[in-house]
Amino acid sequence: MSGAPARGTTPPGAAGEQEAARWVRLMFGRVAGRYDLLNHLLSFQIDRYWRARTVRRLRPLLHRPEARILDLCCGTGDLLLALDGESSRPVFGSDFCHPMLLGARRKIAARHLVSPLVEADALALPFPDHSLDVIAVAFGFRNLANYEKGLIEMRRALKPGGAAAILEFSQPRNRLFAALYRFYSNRLLPAVGGLISGDRSAYRYLPESVRRFPGPAELAADMRAAGFGRVEYELMTGGVVALHIGYGL
Ligand SMILES: C[S@@+](CC[C@H](N)C(=O)[O-])C[C@H]1O[C@@H](n2cnc3c(N)ncnc32)[C@H](O)[C@@H]1O
Repeated sequence: MSGAPARGTTPPGAAGEQEAARWVRLMFGRVAGRYDLLNHLLSFQIDRYWRARTVRRLRPLLHRPEARILDLCCGTGDLLLALDGESSRPVFGSDFCHPMLLGARRKIAARHLVSPLVEADALALPFPDHSLDVIAVAFGFRNLANYEKGLIEMRRALKPGGAAAILEFSQPRNRLFAALYRFYSNRLLPAVGGLISGDRSAYRYLPESVRRFPGPAELAADMRAAGFGRVEYELMTGGVVALHIGYGL
């Protein structure tokens, strides 16, 4: 990856990584109150299956006796709760958006869990080197201001033999389905998302950030370049979503 300009999310009007990160943090802060409702509504509840599949793929690591597990960019904590359902160990959550973490805290408390939440940037995680068995991130990685730094940071915090899972939107392969999906994500999603959240820019950003995000093969190559040993990926729902898993060396 070296030599090429740093790749990361590019929100409208944001010049540079710091501005991009700030735009993302403020945007999630504005939609936090309606995030869960919109998430399930706009994905027709399929997002639950995507997270469940991610947990299933990580199952052997989640059952390690002293497993240390992190839901990175945890938002309101849906992946954290799914991971917790499979592991007997408390699952950490981290995110840099305070209102999203408050949503996670409410859901964790309602289930009487003890998951520690950390307010932190994914590009500078407050976890020691090689300390985590699992790092899982659902729909957060695409928003990072620098993907290479994000991968290197995950790799740093991961134990040898641990796994990093990146669940992220992608582009459907089939041309007809891709055209339908484009109509849905470019037209319907900003309209419905904008109406319910009151923030149309957030739901215009979503399809645009997906369009600019590296394809599955490219992301897998980036993960290898960042030092992951074995990297596997699978597509779900006709390629709407890709799940990458990279193993720490
Ligand atoms: C689309 S939400 C996904 C939330 C949750 N993982 C889920 O599956 O519903 C993306 C989350 O990533 C967080 N995020 C984006 N960039 C981040 C960064 N650099 N550091 C920490 N959190 C970040 C946002 O604050 C937001 O809560």
